[in-house]
Amino acid sequence: MGRLDDRVAIVTGAGRGIGRATALRFAEQGAAVVVNDVDADPAAEAVEEIKKNGGQALLSTHNTVEMANAEAMVKACVDEFGKVDILINNAGITRDKTFHNMGDDIWDAGIKINLYTAYHAAYACMPYMREVAKKELAEKGEVSHHRKINFTSSVAALTGNPGQANYTAAKGAIIALTKTLARELGPFRINVNAVAPGFVETRLTQPKTGESDFGIPDQLRNMALMMIAIGRAGRPEDIANVHLFLASDDADFVSGVTIPVTGGQLGG
Ligand SMILES: NC(=O)c1ccc[n+]([C@@H]2O[C@H](COP(=O)([O-])OP(=O)(O)OC[C@H]3O[C@@H](n4cnc5c(N)ncnc54)[C@H](O)[C@@H]3O)[C@@H](O)[C@H]2O)c1
Repeated sequence: MGRLDDRVAIVTGAGRGIGRATALRFAEQGAAVVVNDVDADPAAEAVEEIKKNGGQALLSTHNTVEMANAEAMVKACVDEFGKVDILINNAGITRDKTFHNMGDDIWDAGIKINLYTAYHAAYACMPYMREVAKKELAEKGEVSHHRKINFTSSVAALTGNPGQANYTAAKGAIIALTKTLARELGPFRINVNAVAPGFVETRLTQPKTGESDFGIPDQLRNMALMMIAIGRAGRPEDIANVHLFLASDDADFVSGVTIPVTGGQLGG
């Protein structure tokens, strides 16, 4: 028996890194998973991997920076699997620059891809999470099961991080959004929580080369590693496991919290 049997989950940014590990882990635990990513190739690979392992998955390349795309993503999920029980808002990027050099374009990219994707996807789920739960409560006095929304903040929002004004503003807003939605949606047995990863080895944290938008300089990577009590970098699966806990029935009485998953990072 899986911990997510009969559940339907949407995971954004699921083509790579933490999102992919989460999609695979959820499918292994019995969930049907919508694998959403703007990069079609890695997302299609994740879908194939889930299917090869005997799971159910649907590819979505909707860019939820736009509300209409978030609505289309959720509709595709419901058309295919009949419902949505779990939303994992994981899509995110870094576009680092010192604050005085940032300008609107880089600021907006950080805010839109980290905050608006999460806002839009959660909003688009409301008819299928809040309304369905409301109907169950009216008709039967209880919901069939708790529904779950997990957001992704970052330890950088808890500590601050030079060069990441846009990113930390978005990730900090996500912590506040998590608390407010937990209060609004709690009466409908919808749990809303966030994870705040520390340093996890993915494309986001790979050694930066040349003009690539992705990665961080070696010096900063080494500094981050030295601050981790557990003595190693995080793995995508470390975060996926916490998403799984929050999404499972084991966490039905956990709501409104942001869980740092950092290996005991100093300051986090
Ligand atoms: N890796 C870390 O150390 C770390 C630390 C703290 C927080 N996080 C957060 O974890 C989340 C996952 O990051 P990761 O490290 O796995 O990065 P990653 O770059 O490996 O994966 C992120 C995925 O999101 C996708 N994506 C980007 N914009 C998207 C959009 N608009 N819609 C759908 N998908 C989109 C990318 O194509 C990519 O496949 C992000 O929100 C990130 O900010 C990561």
